[in-house]
Amino acid sequence: MTGSLEGKLALVTGAANGIGAACACVLAEAGATVVCADLADTADTLAKIVENNGSAIGRECNVADENAVLSLFAEFGAELPPLDILVHCAGIIHEAPLLDTSTEEFDRVVAVNLRGSFLVGREAIRAMQGRGGRIILTASDMAYYGRETFSPYVASKHAVLGLTRSWAKEFAPDILVNALCPGPIDTAMLAAENMTPEWRKKEMAIPLARFGEPEEVARMALFLAGPDGSYITGQGLGVNGGSIMP
Ligand SMILES: NC(=O)c1ccc[n+]([C@@H]2O[C@H](COP(=O)([O-])OP(=O)(O)OC[C@H]3O[C@@H](n4cnc5c(N)ncnc54)[C@H](O)[C@@H]3O)[C@@H](O)[C@H]2O)c1
Repeated sequence: MTGSLEGKLALVTGAANGIGAACACVLAEAGATVVCADLADTADTLAKIVENNGSAIGRECNVADENAVLSLFAEFGAELPPLDILVHCAGIIHEAPLLDTSTEEFDRVVAVNLRGSFLVGREAIRAMQGRGGRIILTASDMAYYGRETFSPYVASKHAVLGLTRSWAKEFAPDILVNALCPGPIDTAMLAAENMTPEWRKKEMAIPLARFGEPEEVARMALFLAGPDGSYITGQGLGVNGGSIMP
């Protein structure tokens, strides 16, 4: 297989489903060897990649658990070649009115979405130092606005942009750091939202009048990970059908 990522090693988190699975497949199609990490079983993603003559291995990892993240990263440069690309997609959503949101629910969302981005991003940058690389985190179009009944999720995604912008400055010019900011994408996460008919109507009122496909986000990840992304850092890249225009 030849492609723009030939010879590169990529780590994709959240690779069992949705956007992460699509990113793993698209990066593998471009020639990268992909480490597919998730709490859930990545067998389906691995099978798709192998079917397409790509190269991938699976790893179970809870991105909110520091020890789990450290043991995953201990493999890079040891059992595995050094890491070139991180696409960090693992995330969870939680919907509830603020006054029904427990501290435990807030902590869980922040642990996966923010602490997970911090842990995985920090270790990926450590692994890339002196060699260079690409870090791609996943925020959301909700990183740019507030939304009722989703405040812990919205706050965690604003914070992911904060990590992105700070790391982009701290590790330039060798390591480029950006965030995907998807709008409504047709995945299990979107289906899990208890969308009222009013919200669904509002989501569908975006200029492109449809939900996005995970592959459409993955193609942005490929752009950022490859030679075409060489002058982009510190950005939140909207793949959102025009849902917001910040
Ligand atoms: N779908 C959308 O509309 C949308 C919009 C904006 C942003 N996003 C973001 O995109 C990312 C991917 O979302 P998706 O829609 O593909 O969701 P998804 O639910 O389909 O996939 C998320 C994946 O993350 C994994 N995961 C959850 N917690 C984990 C943990 N602690 N450790 C490791 N893996 C864990 C899940 O097992 C799952 O495979 C998320 O960060 C999400 O916030 C999604």
